[in-house]
Amino acid sequence: MKTPSPGFGLGLRPDHYADFLDCRQPVDWLELISENYMVPGGKPLAMLDAIRADYPVALHGVSLSIGSTDPLDRAYLAQLKQLHRRVEPLWVSDHLCWTGVAGKNSHDLLPLPYSEEALKLVVAHVRQVQDLLGERILLENVSSYLEFADSVMPEWDFVRAVAEEADCLLLLDVNNIYVSSVNHGYDARDYLRAMPANRVQQIHLAGHHDHGDYIVDTHDHPVCEAVWALYADACRQFGEVAAMIERDDHIPPLAELLAELDRARAIAARAASETRAVA
Ligand SMILES: [Fe+2]
Repeated sequence: MKTPSPGFGLGLRPDHYADFLDCRQPVDWLELISENYMVPGGKPLAMLDAIRADYPVALHGVSLSIGSTDPLDRAYLAQLKQLHRRVEPLWVSDHLCWTGVAGKNSHDLLPLPYSEEALKLVVAHVRQVQDLLGERILLENVSSYLEFADSVMPEWDFVRAVAEEADCLLLLDVNNIYVSSVNHGYDARDYLRAMPANRVQQIHLAGHHDHGDYIVDTHDHPVCEAVWALYADACRQFGEVAAMIERDDHIPPLAELLAELDRARAIAARAASETRAVA
């Protein structure tokens, strides 16, 4: 089902372009935001080609809006297909969310109602994208601050049903699971336990802003201890999975993110040896 893990990566941000062009950095792969490279030529594509020559690359989108009741944007899909052809990525991912409706874009990753109707719509959209690209895509769980009264199942049942019915893969954002578990008052481990191990292709690790009784998913802090602990649980449950640090604001020097990535490597290695010992 899923492909072998390429190892440990980082989300590439423009602040670190020079670091990656200057010398080989100790990462196994990089995740690039698809929309940043959907341009006709110029610096972004030159950068893309230079990076791609040295590193395997995954494409991560923020605009697919797979859960919108609008039809999928054909122009966007054509650009994605073109980028896919150019990059030959490890995989293509986007979010299990909607970003707008009736042609209006909120530029936010909005949660879905977890209903049978929404499930059917998302599954049809995922199949459309997979048919276009000729391969399975990854969908990422989003963090949320509210829930729909129309939901008839927990988020984790919805995520699993989408993956199984659409035959797609999952990008589990462990921070997003933790953020939503605090905001909605559930046990994050229940979420993890419901995930189909053979479909978890990638893991995101990120930081957030903790306001005490709620958390805002800002991606502007280091990964917190509770998320590291959840990541250790994920490693024990899913085995070897590609993992990466995702920082989008207050971008630190590259060395700080590489140190966080080393911690991820150490946690995964410890989980693997514990699993071997038990076996
Ligand atoms: Fe993420």
